[in-house]
Amino acid sequence: MNHLLVTGGAGYIGSHFCAELDRLQFPYTVIDDLSRGRAASVAASRLVVEDIGNGEAVERLIRERSIDCVVHFAAYAYVGESVEKPAAYYANNVVKSFALLEAARRAEVRAFVFSSSCTTYGEVGARLIAETDVQHPTNPYGDTKVAVERMLANYGAAYGMRFAILRYFNAAGAHPALPLFEAHEPETHLIPLVIRAARPGDARLQVFGDDYPTPDGTCVRDYIHVCDLASAHVAALRYLEREPSLVCNLGLGRGYSVLDVIASVERLSGRKVRASIAPRRAGDPASLVADASKARRELGWSPVNDSLDAIVATAWAGEERRVRSIVERS
Ligand code: WQD
Repeated sequence: MNHLLVTGGAGYIGSHFCAELDRLQFPYTVIDDLSRGRAASVAASRLVVEDIGNGEAVERLIRERSIDCVVHFAAYAYVGESVEKPAAYYANNVVKSFALLEAARRAEVRAFVFSSSCTTYGEVGARLIAETDVQHPTNPYGDTKVAVERMLANYGAAYGMRFAILRYFNAAGAHPALPLFEAHEPETHLIPLVIRAARPGDARLQVFGDDYPTPDGTCVRDYIHVCDLASAHVAALRYLEREPSLVCNLGLGRGYSVLDVIASVERLSGRKVRASIAPRRAGDPASLVADASKARRELGWSPVNDSLDAIVATAWAGEERRVRSIVERS
């Protein structure tokens, strides 16, 4: 690939991918409407503030910059919000993705890389999830991701556009050196919330359910470091140079419970996490753990941060940077 268009490059995962492109000195342009991303997370010279749903503008940009590949991160990504506002999720994640894909097709883009999610699998029990498993999302967010996956498969078959569908498990952690970190507004993800409940202040963690059919009764997830996700995207781009398509899970292939995350934060920080047990959160599957062997086998990729503790350590440092950036702004 010669020049990438990175949608959502000012967001949490997109900005870490751009950092990896910078390291590799790979040419790219970011398109982001900044509705949820942070302008400070991406170099101003790379950023085009535009709506990905504006097909004409996107097509013009692709042609002007001779872009031959789209890496599509931009999306709404809150499960709970998607249940309350499915219309917003279909408009933003499906309709705009379609406009983007159409712009890419008209401008004869060669390849398209899409951020999908483990949420597309739904409730699967305790076993490892393989890419060949049936997808039964349990919420509209997952439905919108499946819809775009189908579009890509159809476009690949009919128009020869190469595509990679990357199904992320739970992205976490932060860049070890750059001022990038997880800063969702509001924050709903477990690791940052556990860290906030261990730092000075009165933030408390609610453990959503301790009566799941898991070893300690709390939900089990497969956490993957955001920088490892970024490097997997680069590996996927290389794969698309030689193969027409890829569908791949991105996880460590190991499950950690909510209580494991609390224990990790307490171990690394030497502080107590203020936590109490609360009712289950609607729509949460008990366990989501990847069969992560395909990414290693097909992409020759392996995660550098290969344990929960390694991920949590960078998340803690990222949280300190986030708090400092708020203090500096005020
Ligand atoms: C992890 C576990 C909660 C908060 C979702 C999507 C996934 C991806 C990441 C984006 C769950 C428990 C959480 C809290 C808790 N989405 N929890 N107390 O829901 O597994 O994954 O976000 O693209 O596709 O499904 O992530 O971090 O919200 O929750 O007990 O205050 O922590 O119940 O078991 P989730 P999460």
